[in-house]
Amino acid sequence: MPLPKAELHLHIEGTLEPELAFELAARNDVELPYADTDALRKAYDFDGLQSFLNLYYELMAVLRTERDFEDLANAYLARAAAQGVRHAEIFFDPQAHIARGVAMATVVEGLWRALGSSEANHGVSTRLIMCFLRDESAESALETLEAAKPHLDRITGIGLDSAEVGHPPAKFREVYEAAAALGLRRVAHAGEEGPPEYITEALDVLGVERIDHGLRCMESPELVERLARDRIPLTLCPLSNVRLRTVDTLADHPLPAMLDAGLMCTVNSDDPAYFGGYAGDNFEAVQKSLGLSEDRLRELARNSFLASFLEDDEERRSR
Ligand code: HPA
Ligand code: ZN
Repeated sequence: MPLPKAELHLHIEGTLEPELAFELAARNDVELPYADTDALRKAYDFDGLQSFLNLYYELMAVLRTERDFEDLANAYLARAAAQGVRHAEIFFDPQAHIARGVAMATVVEGLWRALGSSEANHGVSTRLIMCFLRDESAESALETLEAAKPHLDRITGIGLDSAEVGHPPAKFREVYEAAAALGLRRVAHAGEEGPPEYITEALDVLGVERIDHGLRCMESPELVERLARDRIPLTLCPLSNVRLRTVDTLADHPLPAMLDAGLMCTVNSDDPAYFGGYAGDNFEAVQKSLGLSEDRLRELARNSFLASFLEDDEERRSR
């Protein structure tokens, strides 16, 4: 039995496996610039975040209808459940779809067709987190929040993703304030490729409750001390870090040092179709390459539930 765990850092568009990409391309009459699934898999050779994002956005062209988003989410939930995931907080990137003429309603309601019945169908509870693309403008993020207003019963929180360097968190102060006023939870990617200062800014300016990645905090002893003291969860994605060359090899990953420093780490898959594995695969990989003890693995699994929005949300609802 795989260890029960929550997944807190998962981009639903990053779960698009080559087989499903081709199936949806055929269904929607979209032409992909790859001969077959093997040719597509060969393109999964990234030299950093941007080279991955180029392919990630390109393949989204096959996602057009509610049914496409439903099928995508159901495929992920089935795989996650098989690897011990009992709760998933799922990112989506509405701006990348709206820019292609796919409406917010299509994306959210399509995903919800799978998420709304996920506990019954997969034994996985879910939350939806809407991410803003940080390489788009602050105005575009505000428009996106506006477009999401009819769907806020489906959306638990907001996040910030896409190309990090040059797009500091403070750029999105206004939209994070507006989202907080609407009762949305707040997270942000920071310190994946960007400097430790972006992590501090995400906490101080955006008021985030968790940091997605946060790896580069290790360059600042003061920041590590603060994150450990305040028990700020970090949603680490070890296989992603290797594939995007944030670390050289898994054996070089700072996860053990981060745990030793008292940081509240969790292990997640990020974009599992592209990075070589789902949540359980990431757990297995860090166990093998870093020699983590059973106690450490249980700590990571326990952290994932403690850092989730699950209990708080339910408390809020019952009030
Ligand atoms: N980082 C930033 N943006 C992203 C990622 C990531 O790992 N995956 C999908 N969008
Ligand atoms: Zn991510």
